[in-house]
Amino acid sequence: MAALKNTPPAGAPANAAEARPLHVAIVMDGNGRWAKRRGLPRSLGHRAGVEALKRIVEAAPQMNIRWLTVFGFSTENWSRPAAEVAELMALPKRYFETDLARLEREGVRVKVIGTDEGLSRDLVKICREAETRTAKNDRFHLTVAFNYGGKADIVAAARKFAQAVAAGRARPDDLTEDLFEGQLMTAPYPPPDLIVRPSGEQRLSNFLLWQAAYAEFIFQDVLWPDYSPAHLEAAIGEYQTRNRRYGAVAPDDALATG
Ligand code: FPP
Repeated sequence: MAALKNTPPAGAPANAAEARPLHVAIVMDGNGRWAKRRGLPRSLGHRAGVEALKRIVEAAPQMNIRWLTVFGFSTENWSRPAAEVAELMALPKRYFETDLARLEREGVRVKVIGTDEGLSRDLVKICREAETRTAKNDRFHLTVAFNYGGKADIVAAARKFAQAVAAGRARPDDLTEDLFEGQLMTAPYPPPDLIVRPSGEQRLSNFLLWQAAYAEFIFQDVLWPDYSPAHLEAAIGEYQTRNRRYGAVAPDDALATG
């Protein structure tokens, strides 16, 4: 299935001045530093991070955001100390236990992307239940990337297509960007318009590598547990000052091209 598009046709310049981002993705970073500054264990930073997530999920639909994708656990996070990994593994349960009924009631569709490899059976069950119970919803789409890596996402999509070729269901020349995008874990959702990373770090950390091709990036100097709807509104305000050109030139500059 081809991915939905929220971007103008290739080459069409688009000024974001009035446009608000429909799909926002967030690298929820800074839980550890937040805890350290308070002399608390990192686990309490992650728990405070869940509270920040709740605030943002509640506020985002009122900001006309339709899709929100958050990075909860990366394929590289397994290299953390076992106790911290265990705490991180407990976060989806902590979140869905208190919030799933509300998400279901308020029209939020939940999707958890990443691989199940290494996750406990209980955790996989919790994630699938969140997806099943909200499958009929369409008002707002929350994607939690958990045990997710952008490189792994691309490799899995490539493998699916290679298997289709091996089975005689596709030919190598059938592969297009749209077809490939439709195989990614984020499909059928459109790519993010805006990727936000709080905590002062400025990198993608293997999040949505393909999908980020034409996203705007905004880095904010606030630790995730302190993140509030006002921070998100500020990021959207900055997004609206950006000129999204998708590799083309702005119409005025095109006139000036000799
Ligand atoms: C990075 O901060 C954050 C994480 C690895 C975990 C993020 C998860 C949450 C905020 C809650 C997720 C909720 C669900 C439902 C999955 P860090 O620990 O690297 O912080 P540091 O850079 O300050 O050490």
